[in-house]
Amino acid sequence: MVRAVSVHTYHGTAGKEGLMAPRVYVTRVIPRAGVDRLQQAGFDVDVNEGDVPLRQDDLVEKARSYDALVTLLTDRVDRRVLEAAASADLKIVANVAVGYDNVDVAAATDLGIPVTNTPGVLTETTADFAWALLMSVARRVPEAEQFFRAGKYHGWGILMLLGEDVHGKTLGIAGFGRIGQAVARRAAGFDVKILYYDPVLGPDVGKPFGAQHVELDTLLRESDFVSVHVPLTPETRHLISTQQLQLMKPTAYLINTSRGPVVDEGALVEALRAGIIKGAALDVFENEPLAHPGLLELTNVVLTPHIASASRETRDRMATTAADNAIAALQGRRPPNLVNPEVWTERK
Ligand code: GLV
Repeated sequence: MVRAVSVHTYHGTAGKEGLMAPRVYVTRVIPRAGVDRLQQAGFDVDVNEGDVPLRQDDLVEKARSYDALVTLLTDRVDRRVLEAAASADLKIVANVAVGYDNVDVAAATDLGIPVTNTPGVLTETTADFAWALLMSVARRVPEAEQFFRAGKYHGWGILMLLGEDVHGKTLGIAGFGRIGQAVARRAAGFDVKILYYDPVLGPDVGKPFGAQHVELDTLLRESDFVSVHVPLTPETRHLISTQQLQLMKPTAYLINTSRGPVVDEGALVEALRAGIIKGAALDVFENEPLAHPGLLELTNVVLTPHIASASRETRDRMATTAADNAIAALQGRRPPNLVNPEVWTERK
């Protein structure tokens, strides 16, 4: 497939007086606030207005031609891209996402290229959405809505579309970082018991939330809702697979707003089909934009297209945060959200 790349240039002012302004390439449309921020800092900003991911060869070419790249989670910033970037002394890869599994950070570090993410600004919005999914699947909201629209509501029935209570249940949070904690904070009004598993953070972190630190197996065995909030790393790939699903209650639900490959989608489909667990709500998938075809056939799942952080305010903040990181690097200051800080130390 041939994909046309339509680029729009926003001229900055840093290049006046005969000097070239540093050039930033934004690999795909981002909220205007981010582009404005870069332009106001004086940089020339080229935006791929096509709003489809660049082909890998094009990304390599951009890495070789610009001073900074603002990337999205749909870009695969691999060693080849980074080698091209290093050969041209690219100053930063500023990823517009908190997750950065799309960037080969080890290669970037080897090559001395700073990589940044956008932590903090999407925490609350993502936690809101994890709860939205949890409520949706437990109370069958999308199914009920489809039922209504399909003209199937011919009169109230006491057994119609029965779901499960959320209040009073046990919520298991796998990964108790910023987003996991924000999910826990929201649980107070639902009077749920909170368990959490975190391979790094210990029992003290959960105390302010009344949350109990447990091993993953215990969390899976005891929770009615399991919400996943770990980053995707080699260690967390397929953290939830057949063996883990089998530990869960047949009445339990799995919610994933982290990264698709944290859950073994094939194993999940099998577990849902076999009634090993009751349902799932997924915002992320192993091979986005595709979902395992088995998921589409099931009614006990809620599927959304990776929108957990998709509020207007948050997407603006993600774009301006990435812009601020790029601006800092281009001005020779340490970017606020470096994920490979060792690179900066070396540079100083
Ligand atoms: C979204 O998935 C993000 O990592 O910010």
